[in-house]
Parts: sequence; structure tokens; C-alpha cells
Amino acid sequence: MKSPLVQLRPLLSLLADGGMHSGESLGVALGISRAAVWKQLQKLGQYGLALESVKGHGYCLRGGLDLLSAEKIHAVLGTRSRALLHKLILRDEVDSTNAQLLTLMEAGTGHAVVMFAEHQRTGRGRRGRRWVSPYGAGILLSVGWEFSGGVQSLEGLSLSVGVALARALARFEVPGVRLKWPNDIWCRGRKLAGVLLELKGDLTDRCGVVIGIGLNSGLRDQSAGAIDQPWADLQRICPGIPRNLLAATILDEMLPLLKDYPEQGFHAYRDAWAALDQFAGQSVVLQSGAETWCGTAVGVDNKGALILDMAGELKYFHGGEVSLRGQV
Ligand code: BTN
Repeated sequence: MKSPLVQLRPLLSLLADGGMHSGESLGVALGISRAAVWKQLQKLGQYGLALESVKGHGYCLRGGLDLLSAEKIHAVLGTRSRALLHKLILRDEVDSTNAQLLTLMEAGTGHAVVMFAEHQRTGRGRRGRRWVSPYGAGILLSVGWEFSGGVQSLEGLSLSVGVALARALARFEVPGVRLKWPNDIWCRGRKLAGVLLELKGDLTDRCGVVIGIGLNSGLRDQSAGAIDQPWADLQRICPGIPRNLLAATILDEMLPLLKDYPEQGFHAYRDAWAALDQFAGQSVVLQSGAETWCGTAVGVDNKGALILDMAGELKYFHGGEVSLRGQV
């Protein structure tokens, strides 16, 4: 069954320019009646799209939409990424791109497959959180990759992906990008993007990893209200970065990283991570379940574990349920 969003795509493509369109002109362009246009317009609100109607003039999407296009992403992708990429899938709406990629990995068809979505119904974040994924308002990306060396060879991978994201943002000269252990990309002290790794297969041998990336870009106020932590948005910091170019640039950093990771490991990214460490040398509180630890964050080890200096005693924290915030 077609999802309603797929049916709305032709209408959204017309409204994407942000200009005013009469019901009549939309009907002519879509080959449907004005009543049918009106019905479709009513549905846009469900997806957090701010439709404005001006009596006697028509309808517009304030600010327009910069829609993703597989052709445009392909066209600007670097040569190496193009060679590494097996398949690029673009969806209007999915439950979660990570969930979709995990299914492909299970079927043995997910390696080097990339999926972008315009909207996720149940976007997944770390620690059971949801990732707020309104239509056309960011990068919602999952990449499937198979590794033969088991989970051991993946140590520090999620932190390295953070470095890759920071490098992609640096190509657009985005100011104030930092990394917050373990998986967050911050900008000017707020969360801009997050990384969620999910695994499938034999964790001691051949295993599949789905690398999920969510990045806020073009969040509308109404949707942003649902985010339960301080957030940043790329369009508000650096307006005008084309989404398709941003998507391709992220792939240009990510795909070579994944290909080379078994040989390079976190070793190749540790210094870069340290240089972007949001909390380096600061007093922090770490929480895991009911337990908390206070100390000074003194960087990460070769495996990507956070090192906390607790009154001269060094304690190492691996991923999972640990969260970190600056001490007040
Ligand atoms: C975090 O909690 O910081 C991680 C967020 C990861 C969100 C992305 S959006 C694309 C991919 N699909 C999902 O369901 N989650 C990840």
C-alpha cells in the first residue's frame, strides 16, 4: 500500500519553491480537481508542514522545502564514494531508516546500502529515545556495512563517525562544531546531530552494522518543541546549505571511513576526536542507571572509552547507557 506521503510528493514538489500557488494552478499541474487538491493540502499539517493560505491568492509553504533527490546526490558524490556505494535508496516516509537497513542486513542485502528518508514515523535515538524526524527537516540517514572481524574490530566506530560528520560540516565552514562523548555532534553548545549504531549477525565474526545519523536542518518551531534536550539546527546556523550537497558530503566522509576502518581503526581518528572534544578538561557527571560518577573528563582511550579522572584515579567508561553532562 502506498503511504499517504508518497501520494503527496507531486504536490510537495510544486510547493517546495515556497511561492504562492492557486488551487486551480495546482489542480492543472497535478491533473486533479480543485477539491482533490484541497483534500491533499489538508493532509500536509499532519507532517508538521506549515501551509499558509491567502484568500484569493492560493497556498504556499513558508520557507519552501529543499527536497532530497537521489539523482542530485549521485551527481555530486565523490568518485571513491560512488565506487563504494552499492545502492542509494530515498524514501518519503519510513518507520525508521535504521529499522529498514537492519531488515536488509538480515536478508544479506544491506552491505554498502544507503537510505535517506524525508520523514520517519518512529525515528530511533540512543537509550530508547525517539528521534524527532519531521518531513524534509534534516538528514535522516542509515548506512549498512558488513565487517568480518566481529565487534572487536568496530571499537570506537561510533566516535569515528562523529569525526566524519564534523569533517563534513567543516567543508561548509559550520562554526562551533564539537563532539560530545559518545555519539553526539554539538554546535554552539547544543545538539545538532546524533549517531546510532545497531548490530546484526555474529558478533564474534561476520557482523552487519547499521550506522544511523540524524541531523537537524530546517526544523520548524512546532516540531522542534517535541525535542526533549537543547537542540541546534543547521539552517539556523548556516542558512542555505543545499541538503543534497550536504547528504553527498556526509557520504563522502562516511563510506571511505567504513571501507578503511578494519585496517585503520579508532587509532586514525582519536586525535581528531580529542581536538573536537566538547568536555575536555571539564568537570562532568556521568550517569548510568542509578549510578553517578563525578570527575574531570580527560579524553578517550584507544578503544573510544571515556576517561574520567576521579581524584587522581582514572576510570574508563565504554558506550552503552552512560550519559554525560557538564557539572554545574
Ligand atoms: C541519538 O540519540 O543521538 C542518535 C540519533 C540517531 C537518529 C538517526 S535518524 C536516521 C536513523 N534512523 C533512526 O531510526 N535513527 C537514526
